[in-house]
Amino acid sequence: MKIAVIGTGYVGLVTGASLAHLGHQVVCIDVDKDKIMLLQSGGMPIWEPGLEDMIRDAELKGMLDYSTDASAAVSGSDAVFLTIGTPSSESGEADLSALWSAVHSIAPMLPDNGLLIIKSTVPSGTCEQIESYLRKRLPFSSRIAVAHNPEFLRQGSAVRDFLAPDRLVFGASSPEAYNRLEEIYAPIKSPKIRCGLSEAELIKCASNAFLAMKISYANMMSDLCDALGVSIDAVVEGMGLDRRIGSEFLSAGAGYGGSCFPKDLHALIALASREHLDMELLKATESINRQRIQIIIQKLETALGSLEDKTVTVYGLTFKPNTDDIRESPALRICSMLQEVGARIMVYDPVVTCLPELQVDLTVDMYAAATGSDCVVIVTDWDQFRHLDWGRLRQVMRSSYVLDARNMLDTAEMAVNCERYGLHYMSMGRPSITPDCPINNRAEMTIMT
Ligand SMILES: NC(=O)c1ccc[n+]([C@@H]2O[C@H](COP(=O)([O-])OP(=O)(O)OC[C@H]3O[C@@H](n4cnc5c(N)ncnc54)[C@H](O)[C@@H]3O)[C@@H](O)[C@H]2O)c1
Repeated sequence: MKIAVIGTGYVGLVTGASLAHLGHQVVCIDVDKDKIMLLQSGGMPIWEPGLEDMIRDAELKGMLDYSTDASAAVSGSDAVFLTIGTPSSESGEADLSALWSAVHSIAPMLPDNGLLIIKSTVPSGTCEQIESYLRKRLPFSSRIAVAHNPEFLRQGSAVRDFLAPDRLVFGASSPEAYNRLEEIYAPIKSPKIRCGLSEAELIKCASNAFLAMKISYANMMSDLCDALGVSIDAVVEGMGLDRRIGSEFLSAGAGYGGSCFPKDLHALIALASREHLDMELLKATESINRQRIQIIIQKLETALGSLEDKTVTVYGLTFKPNTDDIRESPALRICSMLQEVGARIMVYDPVVTCLPELQVDLTVDMYAAATGSDCVVIVTDWDQFRHLDWGRLRQVMRSSYVLDARNMLDTAEMAVNCERYGLHYMSMGRPSITPDCPINNRAEMTIMT
């Protein structure tokens, strides 16, 4: 099939490359000229494991192209995917202005019998509004179908998630639209759910909100574990083995971030509030997530005293490992808060090497970032932090504290490293393994709401 993908961001580029990999003839379109020029000249605008190889392969086979001009690609297409950003507006509702601007501009180019597939995450009711706009606007509108096919990929494993999803959701209002979606995704054998447009929209937001809630639940339990001197590791392991609960997204740490969970939760709360519904559970999820940053700062203050003029090294800037995306990353909020309390901040991230918005010292070497530091805080669980040379780290640091804000390190191994190199290891909701660590005194800590 001939497919146009409008919006070549994290989702659009993975969608375009994967659909080309599945055998479709794809053109990825974006208004960002620099991004399209970069792709046309063999560059990569984002970092995502496996994506570049798949793109090169599709390009060699002549299945994938890029353009800033939507007209030819859209008018000659069997299906058009919209993968445009839908960020939070100030009110908390999704900002659909870029999406609507694309709908307005491509509407006249949509071919008779065309299919417009909204892949962006949108509030319930949006796709019906787009369908009704096209009905009014186009002469052959009755033969243009609108579908919603929400995307559930996770950055860091986006290619795998796209090609082998847990399920595919097809929201549509006509048999032709369902059938065309079935054809597009024919090589993918995952369960396919057919539902209405609004149901598909809600499945996406409700799923993300549920996952965010699981993370906040684990974090809430982690606070209780800290207070009781109990290990959250055992608690979440014991819970997660129950198949009704499941272990994924049930880990304590610095909280969720990224371009999806915060905004989708916000949008769901705002949508419900228009219907006079108060989504208390989701509001609590957000509040628990916000508290993570304060708890991390409090742990640092309990260990180091006032953070003014102390040097804190932040390991990891991206909102999760294996991506270069820093949108809504907890690390940025931690850096801002450290800045507010007068700390000097050194930062290391394996892929982010430039951060103009924050006044931090960003280095490309893990040990250089820790030189003269009072505490290293692991905020993103990049695999390489599991293989640190702890002796070398301790040698370059001024003081001895390590806060593992993702609970990524094994406590038994760290107990040995602490003993051997004189480190003090702290984590989230796990009893301290260094007896003289001030963080043992949990009574000093209060959680601010
Ligand atoms: N990032 C994720 O992991 C993820 C996962 C699932 C769903 N989603 C949803 O997918 C959508 C896209 O997210 P993203 O992270 O890829 O966003 P993004 O910001 O990375 O990409 C959006 C792209 O759309 C382009 N664009 C804006 N207006 C345009 C127009 N009129 N014509 C052509 N291109 C235009 C932008 O230049 C940008 O390149 C959002 O609704 C998001 O919530 C994202």
